[in-house]
Amino acid sequence: MTLSRRLALAAAFLAPLAGPALAQTQITIQHPLPLNSHYGAGATALKEAFERASGGRYNVVIQRNDNEREAIESAQIGTIECVVTSTGPVGNFVPETRNLDVPFLFRDTAHARGVLDSEIGQQMLGRFSARGLAGVVWMENGFRHLTNSRREVNTPADIRGLKVRTMENQVHMRAFSTLGALPTPMAFSELVPALQQGTVDGQENPIPVIVANNLNQVQRYLTLTGHVYSPAILICNPGMLARMSAADRAAFMEAAKAGAAANRARVTSDEQSGVDELRRRGMTVVTQVDAAAFQTALAAAFTEYERTLDGALLRRIREWR
Ligand code: PAF
Repeated sequence: MTLSRRLALAAAFLAPLAGPALAQTQITIQHPLPLNSHYGAGATALKEAFERASGGRYNVVIQRNDNEREAIESAQIGTIECVVTSTGPVGNFVPETRNLDVPFLFRDTAHARGVLDSEIGQQMLGRFSARGLAGVVWMENGFRHLTNSRREVNTPADIRGLKVRTMENQVHMRAFSTLGALPTPMAFSELVPALQQGTVDGQENPIPVIVANNLNQVQRYLTLTGHVYSPAILICNPGMLARMSAADRAAFMEAAKAGAAANRARVTSDEQSGVDELRRRGMTVVTQVDAAAFQTALAAAFTEYERTLDGALLRRIREWR
């Protein structure tokens, strides 16, 4: 065999091995929930849309990290590229987002999605760049409800004295201390051991989270308080976006929107089936909740939010139609 023929054969043999590894850029997205969850649905839809649009030049890897603050820090320093997170710890990075964490701010899901997709939400995404992060798209966690292992919660008074795990979020903590609970902030990764060991009596999360994480195994009572809407957000490392070509960046943004649509659709379906599923798994569910009574009990917290947050923005959000 001639030398040129031998070289041609060697090149043909090596090309499939070397080609994809050299050409592919990896994007790691972390999120705190099981793959079979509303965040997993969003991340998977983004992965599929972007890998398809980029003709396989990008490989999107989805990982679980149930410490949201850590994951945001990793995206900030660039050890991962993106994170899907609730706004729980986000106010510690971008303080303006705390306005979205105010209890009973949003009337319903349509109101919340409308505000986040409007100029208000888009301007808020723009705030991330000053903090070394890129706010890419709003996703959704859902309206949060209270669970506990001690008693049925029917009225605000029933919350008094309960040790409730909250997110590391001062707006939420203030609400629970105003209701007379003992708010205990911790990362989601610490929640189940804390419930098992009785360090806390209860926690609050949307139905899709309670279902996906089998919290019924450690909590008996669920009250559909819907006390606060919990936005989720896709945050990325700005350097990663800057390194993309304009066309790839546009495709990534489109894929992120497809991810948000899939995530929201999954929240809607989990909320429709989740309460029955949790009853089937043995939880006692209180569905009749006097939201006005909870809002009255929170009066002192609302006065503080008006003073410490952006009162004008809160009014704009409340009045949004
Ligand atoms: O409770 C939390 O920390 C969040 O709601 C969770 C479950 C990590 C989802 O973002």
